[in-house]
Amino acid sequence: MRLRNSGFWAILCIACESIAQQATPAVPPTPIPSYSGCPVDGPVLPRPTNLSKSKHIRAVTENLSTALDSAIDGEAKAGWDVKNASFSLAFVSPHDDEFGAEGGQPLWEYHHLAEGNTKGTKSLNGDSQYLIGSISKLFSNLILLKSGLNLEDSVTKYLPELKNDSSPVRWENITLASLGEHLSGIPPNYNGFEFYFLAPLYEKLGFPHLSESDYDGCGIAGLSSSCTKEQLLNGMLEISPVSVPFSRPLYSQLSYTLFILAVSEATGKDYDQLLDELVIQPMGMKNTGASPGDDAKAVIPPGDTVSWGADFGINAPGGGLYSSINDLTLLANSVLDKTALENPDQVRKWLKPKSMSSSRSTLVGDPWEIQRTTNLTPDHPHTIDIYAKSGGSNGYVSQFSLVDQYGVGFLALTAGPPGSVSILNDALIGSLMPAIEQETRDQAQKYLGNFTSGAATSSELAKKQSEAPVTLALSMDDKPGLKLDALTRNGSSIIEGILTIFTQALPMTGILNPDFRLYPSEYEVPVPADDKDAYSNLPFDSEKGRKNLVREHWRINIDMVPQDNKRMSDLPAQGALVDICLSWQLADWVTYGGQGIDKVVFVLEEKSREVVGVEVPALRSGRLAKEG
Ligand SMILES: *[C@@H]1O[C@H](CO)[C@@H](O)[C@H](O)[C@H]1NC(C)=O
Ligand SMILES: *[C@@H]1O[C@H](CO)[C@@H](O)[C@H](O)[C@H]1NC(C)=O
Ligand SMILES: *[C@@H]1O[C@H](CO)[C@@H](O)[C@H](O)[C@H]1NC(C)=O
Ligand SMILES: *[C@@H]1O[C@H](CO)[C@@H](O)[C@H](O)[C@H]1NC(C)=O
Ligand SMILES: *[C@@H]1O[C@H](CO)[C@@H](O)[C@H](O)[C@H]1NC(C)=O
Ligand SMILES: *[C@@H]1O[C@H](CO)[C@@H](O)[C@H](O)[C@H]1NC(C)=O
Ligand SMILES: *[C@@H]1O[C@H](CO)[C@@H](O)[C@H](O)[C@H]1NC(C)=O
Repeated sequence: MRLRNSGFWAILCIACESIAQQATPAVPPTPIPSYSGCPVDGPVLPRPTNLSKSKHIRAVTENLSTALDSAIDGEAKAGWDVKNASFSLAFVSPHDDEFGAEGGQPLWEYHHLAEGNTKGTKSLNGDSQYLIGSISKLFSNLILLKSGLNLEDSVTKYLPELKNDSSPVRWENITLASLGEHLSGIPPNYNGFEFYFLAPLYEKLGFPHLSESDYDGCGIAGLSSSCTKEQLLNGMLEISPVSVPFSRPLYSQLSYTLFILAVSEATGKDYDQLLDELVIQPMGMKNTGASPGDDAKAVIPPGDTVSWGADFGINAPGGGLYSSINDLTLLANSVLDKTALENPDQVRKWLKPKSMSSSRSTLVGDPWEIQRTTNLTPDHPHTIDIYAKSGGSNGYVSQFSLVDQYGVGFLALTAGPPGSVSILNDALIGSLMPAIEQETRDQAQKYLGNFTSGAATSSELAKKQSEAPVTLALSMDDKPGLKLDALTRNGSSIIEGILTIFTQALPMTGILNPDFRLYPSEYEVPVPADDKDAYSNLPFDSEKGRKNLVREHWRINIDMVPQDNKRMSDLPAQGALVDICLSWQLADWVTYGGQGIDKVVFVLEEKSREVVGVEVPALRSGRLAKEG
C-alpha cells in the first residue's frame, strides 16, 4: 500500500536517514507499463501570444471561413437551418499586441445574417445584439463578487422575509455563495416553466385536470402576470427544496434572482444600475443590458414566439440580458487576462470548480459549466478544461467558452431554430484548438536545447561554475510540456540522483516516473539588481535591459507511476485506482539547502520573452546559457 497521507510522511521522515542507508527494497514494486503521466493542471507550456500572427491559426481560420461560406451557399452540408439561423462566431485572446489592446477585439470573427431574419439589423456585425440567455449568469455572478458583500452571509441577512419557521427551505442556512454556485439545493425556477396554456395538452397526455386555484398566484404563462418581488419572496416560503445545501450542483436561475435581490437590498440599487456600474461601464461595453435591447441593432429570428423584446423582470439576472460579440469579447478577455475582478487571484478563484457532476467531463464552478476534455488536440492528447456557459432564450442559443490554459476564448451566438450552435461551436473549438496547440509548441521552441554553465561574468561565479559544470538538455516530444533529457553536475546525472533519493529515502511516495517533464508554474519575479554578475553581459542595454529581466519559474513534474498490483497480488479488484493523480502532492516536496530539487528557472527579457538563461537553484548552477 502506498501511503498518501502527508502527516504520515513527516513522521516517517524521522527515519529518513536510516532509510537512505538501506539498499533498494528486495522486491521493487512494478510500475504500470502504460502509465501516461499526470501533468500539472493549467498551462503545460507558457500561454501563446500574438496568435493573430500565427500561420497555424491563419490557415485554420481561413479554412473555417471557407467551410462556413460553402455550408451557407449550399455547396456543403450545413446540418442546420441556413435560411433561418443567423449567427456570430468569434475567437478571442487578450495576449495579442494587435487585437488584445484596450480590452480587445476578436482575432477572428464570422457573421451570417439569415434570409429569414427580416426584422432587426440589416448588417450583422460585432456590435449586433443577441439575447444571450443564461450567459447573463456570468454578468450577475460578477455583480455578486464585486458587490463587496460577505458571500458567507446567509441570504436572510438581506432578505429577512425569508426567515420563517414554517418554510420547507431553511433559508437561514443558505449563503449568498451557495446561491452563486448552484449549491443551495433550491429549485431551478419559481413557476418559470409552468404553462397554463398547455394544460389541455398535459391532460391529453394523461395528466389530471387542475383548477386555476391549483396554480400559484404569479408567473404562470397563460394565467398570471410575472411575479413581483413580494410575491416571489412569499412563494419562497412554500417551495420545497430539491436537496439539502452543498449536496450536489443543482442548476438554478431562481438562485440568481435571489442573490441579486439581496445585493439590491444591501446597496439600494436595482439590477440595471448594478449591471451598469459594476460590469458595463468598467469594461466599456456598448451593446449589453437587460432586455429589451435596440431593435435596429438586433438579430431577430423569424417566428411569433421569439423572446426578443421581452422584459424578463425579476428573472433577468438568470437569463434576461442581450449582448454582442464585441462586448462578450471584453468579458472573455477580462477573465483570461485576470482583470475581471479586483485582483488576479480572485479571477483564478472564480474559475475553480466548486462541485462536480457524476461525469468526469463535467465540473461546476460558480456560473461555469466546466467541460473537461482529453481529445481537443488529437496529436498531443492531454486534459483541456473549457470554462463554458451556455445560454438559451426563445429563438436564441449561445455558447461562451474560455480555455484559460491557453489564454483563448470562443464565442458562438445564434438566432433562429436551435441546433446550429452545437455544430458551430464544435467547428470553432475543434478546428482551432489543434492550431493553438501547434502555435504554443512553436513558441516554446525557445526553451529547447542544451544549456551549460560558463556564462557567468563575475570571477567568483565563473570559478565555481568551472569547478563543477552543470548541463541541462531539454527537448519536446508528443507529450505535454518540455522533456528533461539530461541534467548533470560535474558529470553526475542529477536525474539519476533524484530517482535514487525518491526510491531510497522516500519509498512511501510510490514509484517515481522517470519520464521527467517540465511545466511552467505561473510564478514570475523580476531579476533583482544584485544579480548583475550573472546577467550583465547580455546583448542589450545594461541599465535599461536589466530592469526588464524576469525569472520564470518552472517545475520538474514529480509524478508517481501507479504500481501494477495485478502483477503482485491475486486479491480481487487490483488496479481499480490506477487513474489517481499524485503529482499535485509532490511539487517542491524535497528540498536541498532550501531549494526544491524540482525547480528550474528560466530568465527572460520581460517584453520580448527572449530566453537569456536558465538556472537550477538546488544545484547553485548560476546562469546556464544555450549552446551554439
Ligand atoms: C484546410 O483545408 C484543406 C482542404 O480541405 C486541408 O487539406 C488542410 O489540411 C486544411 N488546413 C488546416 C490547417 O486545417
Ligand atoms: C411564515 O410563512 C407562513 C406561510 O407562508 C405565513 O402564513 C406566516 O405569516 C409567516 N410567518 C412570518 C413570521 O412571517
Ligand atoms: C441552520 O442554521 C441554524 C441557525 O443559524 C443553525 O442553528 C443550524 O445548525 C443550521 N443547520 C444546518 C443544517 O446547517
Ligand atoms: C424559416 O422560418 C419560416 C418562418 O417561421 C418558416 O416558414 C420556414 O419553414 C422556415 N424555414 C425552414 C427551412 O425551416
Ligand atoms: C568534479 O569532478 C572531478 C572529477 O571527478 C573531481 O576531481 C572534482 O573534485 C569535482 N568537482 C567538484 C566541485 O565536485
Ligand atoms: C544535447 O544533450 C543531449 C542529451 O544529453 C545529447 O544527446 C545531445 O547530443 C546534445 N546536443 C548537442 C547539440 O550537444
Ligand atoms: C507580438 O508581435 C509584435 C510585433 O510583431 C512584437 O513587437 C511583440 O513583442 C510581440 N509580443 C509578444 C508578447 O510576443
